[in-house]
Amino acid sequence: MTYEEIAKQKFEELKKKDDVLILSIESSCDETSIALVKNGREVLSNIIASQIDIHRRFGGVVPEVASRNHITAISNIFDEAIKEACVNIEDIDAVAVTYGAGLVGALLVGVNFAKALAYSLSIPLIAVSHVHGHIAANYISHKELEPPFFCLMVSGGHTALLEVQDYQNFHLVGSTVDDAVGECFDKVARVLSLPYPGGPEIDKLALQGKNIYNFTVSNSLKDTFNFSFSGIKTSVVNFVHNKSQKGESFSPADVACSFQEAVTDELSTKAIKACNQTKLVVAGGVGANSRLKEKLQQACKNEGIEFYSPVLRYCTDNSAMIGSAGYYMIKKGIGLAPLSLTAKPNVEL
Ligand code: KG4
Ligand code: ZN
Repeated sequence: MTYEEIAKQKFEELKKKDDVLILSIESSCDETSIALVKNGREVLSNIIASQIDIHRRFGGVVPEVASRNHITAISNIFDEAIKEACVNIEDIDAVAVTYGAGLVGALLVGVNFAKALAYSLSIPLIAVSHVHGHIAANYISHKELEPPFFCLMVSGGHTALLEVQDYQNFHLVGSTVDDAVGECFDKVARVLSLPYPGGPEIDKLALQGKNIYNFTVSNSLKDTFNFSFSGIKTSVVNFVHNKSQKGESFSPADVACSFQEAVTDELSTKAIKACNQTKLVVAGGVGANSRLKEKLQQACKNEGIEFYSPVLRYCTDNSAMIGSAGYYMIKKGIGLAPLSLTAKPNVEL
């Protein structure tokens, strides 16, 4: 039998198998990560090699540098993940890998490693969307959480409102028409000379500041569930440049606080307004933002909605979330990928 025939047969068997052990791989941006996840919710290991310190000196992720560092790291990460999980390689039932969205060169490192592994072990290869992985991070953090629920997806690449109807059906309710909110946090941080990645830095600095500057999110989408953040980003950048050119001083903490208040107001207000479920879930790196979580938690309490967010280490990029998403794909009988699988810079939400 060919690899593809064996993989198909094993994939069918996994649909009915009680215990499914997945090795999952994530390399879409600047984190190389490999995890071992049992039955979609139990994380046996989740090793993450972050390249943040490498990219910090460039002020952001340099794609070519990211790809090279994934290549250097991935074999060691694999060994560590297997060792920490205390499993035998032969016990792995399937390999799940992020195939998009992300940096193509970076994704290809994970995808090719996953293909080689699946082929050598004669087990199914599952192609997982990074965004679906972020949503599944909540299944790891909250063992009782099941769809349907409403989701605010906020990361460096995406900003969207989604109705998660079941494990596989997602209805897009709204999304950004320009920048992703994480991108905006990073840009504002950069103009304030804060290190990359800027989101957590703004979050910290804002704690010392006051909401005194009138940075506002564009009004043009106020009656929709779409977002626009490029306007507020430009306002902050222009404000800082103007002050510098005139030699006037200002408080970076007040800028961080005012910007964060405006953006988190927009996200939380629209998420609550659009939420047509009894549960609201936040997903993606910006979901780690303390003010956003505070506002969502309070608003959900007022509206009688249950609020969920992943614990911090599953909020930002990691491969355990890919293992969780991959498990539910197997159970639904979708996602089996051929060895011709390639990386995609964009994937439909
Ligand atoms: O989900 P993620 O790790 O990668 C993508 O899929 O993009 O998200 C990364 C983004 C970055 O823009 C980072 O600055 C932002 O999440 N981020 C935050 C916080 N922690 C990470 N933004 C605001 N507040 C935070 N605490
Ligand atoms: Zn991500």
